[in-house]
Amino acid sequence: MTDLTFGPKGWTPERLGDLTGKTFVITGANAGAGFQAARILLSKGAEVVMLNRSAEKSAAAVKELKQEFGTAAPVRFVRMDLAEQASVRVAAEEVLKTTPRIDALICNAAIAQVPTRKLTPDGFESQLGTNHYGHFTLCGMLFDRIEQSQGRIVVVASLGYNMGLKTIRFDHMNWDTGYGANTAYSQSKLAQMMFAYELQDRLAAAGRTGVKVYVCHPGSSATSLITTSGSRTMRLIWWLMTKTPMVQTAEQGAYPEVMCATEEALTEQRALYGPTGRMEAVGPVGRGTLNAHAYDKPVMVRLWERSEKDTGFSWGL
Ligand SMILES: NC(=O)c1ccc[n+]([C@@H]2O[C@H](COP(=O)([O-])OP(=O)(O)OC[C@H]3O[C@@H](n4cnc5c(N)ncnc54)[C@H](OP(=O)(O)O)[C@@H]3O)[C@@H](O)[C@H]2O)c1
Repeated sequence: MTDLTFGPKGWTPERLGDLTGKTFVITGANAGAGFQAARILLSKGAEVVMLNRSAEKSAAAVKELKQEFGTAAPVRFVRMDLAEQASVRVAAEEVLKTTPRIDALICNAAIAQVPTRKLTPDGFESQLGTNHYGHFTLCGMLFDRIEQSQGRIVVVASLGYNMGLKTIRFDHMNWDTGYGANTAYSQSKLAQMMFAYELQDRLAAAGRTGVKVYVCHPGSSATSLITTSGSRTMRLIWWLMTKTPMVQTAEQGAYPEVMCATEEALTEQRALYGPTGRMEAVGPVGRGTLNAHAYDKPVMVRLWERSEKDTGFSWGL
């Protein structure tokens, strides 16, 4: 699919103006696409708050960014482990205390292709618990601040939503049978997308149109995603792929999320933004293909209700 909204090169950071005075909160910003998004936003004068699980990696990331943009560069981190609901709540409280405005919350962090079934401390399958339930509660807790700021929520999804079951397995959400690394990852990313589209619907129904909610994906980008959580075989396959034109840089992988966090010309929210080149895995960034199973209404509603019950967080929408 070719999207020429932003010209033949697609959306690039050249479209960004001065972002001084704006604040962006990014989950998982010490590495990969999240780190590159932080770099791009800082380069335009924005403030960046990282929500990361590793204090050590975060300190290294902040140091690197301050080396590039100067010691006064407005970047800091709050420790948050998305896999633990209690940690998400503590981190969100900290953000509310220290961050008076949020122009966009970028839900970027994830784990992927976890080879064996693991459970989070709250008893959720690890990818669902981290990628979906963690962000579900975080977005809910920060929502009022984002709304006061007339801000955005950006969900970083994956083309993996087209793999696996293409729906939510409500009878075995936590894969107590039939676990597969890719199937479970695909379900977790589909859940994140369904959350975003259902949130759009609920906000529209409540007449609360101040917050925009966008969904994007980085295509295939050379980040640490597979090396962090994938099996040895997956890591080898991925390493070989990164040597081909089928995989782009982590910086290019950050463009869709930065675009969704900032671009004024982005009008359509019920969409999936990302690369529009070969297999929509690489190439110019714009609006890609969104398949209907991602906004299957009865499934979205059921997932929302189930997520509120499982996390104990009620959105009141
Ligand atoms: N790269 C691709 O080709 C690709 C394709 C499709 C979708 N995506 C999506 O793109 C997004 C960015 O991923 P990436 O490729 O940039 O991967 P990455 O380099 O591994 O970065 C992921 C970030 O998430 C953090 N994270 C993982 N678990 C966490 C937790 N429990 N709590 C808080 N932070 C946590 C990681 O922290 P640590 O450094 O501590 O591990 C890291 O900072 C993800 O949503 C992913 O699903 C990537």
